[in-house]
Amino acid sequence: MRKKIVAGNWKMNTNLCEAVELAKGIRERLSEVPSNVKLIVAPPFTNIESVEEILSGTPVAVAAQNCADHDKGAYTGEISAKMIASCGCKYVILGHSERRTYYGETSAKIVEKMKLAFAAGLGVILCIGENLDERNAGKHFEVTRKEIEDVLFNFTAEDMANVTVAYEPIWAIGTGVTATSAQAEEIHAHVRKVIASEFGEKVADEMTILYGGSCKPSNAKELFSCPDIDGGLIGGAALKPDDFIAIAKSY
Ligand code: 13P
Repeated sequence: MRKKIVAGNWKMNTNLCEAVELAKGIRERLSEVPSNVKLIVAPPFTNIESVEEILSGTPVAVAAQNCADHDKGAYTGEISAKMIASCGCKYVILGHSERRTYYGETSAKIVEKMKLAFAAGLGVILCIGENLDERNAGKHFEVTRKEIEDVLFNFTAEDMANVTVAYEPIWAIGTGVTATSAQAEEIHAHVRKVIASEFGEKVADEMTILYGGSCKPSNAKELFSCPDIDGGLIGGAALKPDDFIAIAKSY
């Protein structure tokens, strides 16, 4: 049975008070979340410790939104995977399209970060997804295949137990335009096939693949009912406890 995950990526949205309120709001409503759904929240670095404290003793895991591509040393402004793990984080999101687009993050960099994340004992949520031009040119299968190959194929089948893939079509992120469940499902099934081609059917079968991009309470149920969609990576709707919990309840 694959793990079902609903993860909230808070991006650069919460100051300390807001993060504390949001974490408390989620904690208060945890009894509503089905027991087969794992919740993850990814606050900004500056909120991680406080959010971790509020959610300690609950099944909610805390993730970081990024980590450095070096282990330690003179890299002003960077945060290492080990530092993140030392604050209680269990996961790190890597390769988000916002990092690839605005901060020039390449697959080679993501590979370095992923090695360090694994060494620090962190699970990785790897984001992939095509932009609108690529979608309109019919390249979405090719683009997502290459993103998987360029990053995950540098690792072993054993490493895959610590990887969750998030398919986030860039044209759906923060736009209000969600991929239809058919569009999302066909890419999820494709990603699973690409993973099977390198690591075998069992690994592919056990891989949790999340959908992200304008996922909200009104469309989560339909998306999550698809056989290869194992949950969501939620942006905007993760900033309201009611919406986040409602999405988790869509299972
Ligand atoms: P939205 O849900 O705001 O579209 O963001 C999705 C996302 O980028 C999650 O990582």
